[in-house]
Amino acid sequence: MSNTFYAPGEQRAAKVNDLFARIARRYDLINDLQSFGLHRRWKRRVADLAAVTPGARALDLCCGTGDLALALARRGARVTGLDFSAPMLAVARRRQGGRDIEFIQGDALQIPFPDASFDIVTMGYGLRNLASWEAGLAEMRRVAKPGGRLVILEFGKPANALWRSLYFAHLRCSVPLTGWLFCGNAQAYAYILESLKHYPAQLAVAAHLRALPLANVRVINFLGGAMAINYGEKAV
Ligand SMILES: C[S@@+](CC[C@H](N)C(=O)[O-])C[C@H]1O[C@@H](n2cnc3c(N)ncnc32)[C@H](O)[C@@H]1O
Repeated sequence: MSNTFYAPGEQRAAKVNDLFARIARRYDLINDLQSFGLHRRWKRRVADLAAVTPGARALDLCCGTGDLALALARRGARVTGLDFSAPMLAVARRRQGGRDIEFIQGDALQIPFPDASFDIVTMGYGLRNLASWEAGLAEMRRVAKPGGRLVILEFGKPANALWRSLYFAHLRCSVPLTGWLFCGNAQAYAYILESLKHYPAQLAVAAHLRALPLANVRVINFLGGAMAINYGEKAV
């Protein structure tokens, strides 16, 4: 296997699965270190936008260790968390406590639920990892009920050229260094920039959501666009 975790096309899923199996144990710690804890605030914003009503059905795709699934469950949703990585799901299940969450192993590109099943569909840092981000968005829309909300948190691309190059330098240098120091794996964290370069980011995702179509499409930027939430609603 080559030493990059990015692969186009059919090899994508196997490479991404291998990556998360290697870092699952340290994933949460490194998220806190690399974002200075800010990812928690951005995830709270996702949960705010999801506008959970009591008993709402929520699907958190690419749920990983369960941060978003837990946030939605705390607000009263009945949550399904889906991920294809058994080691990431094992961490999520350990964190679950007694909350109303079902964690299942599956592929976000072939969601094992019928059309119009969920009031809320979220995805945190998953879209950039899919073999086809467009197919991922179509699946999210398919399983949302009419009036359902799609909320996607992902790395972004700052519009300002100077800020973008500084940010990319950070992703190229200090992020892999932290990965090496705390997880013994620089390559897994170098993958963030590699995958971001192949991902069109928040503005193109918003244009695609409008075309699907979704209503009330919004982009919420953080840190000058270094992080972003894409939001849209399935028409009633
Ligand atoms: C960066 S982690 C994000 C975890 C969590 N959502 C968060 O915000 O911290 C990306 C997750 O996406 C999962 N993933 C990537 N491609 C997937 C796919 N096609 N189907 C299901 N899960 C996938 C990985 O296994 C990994 O757990």
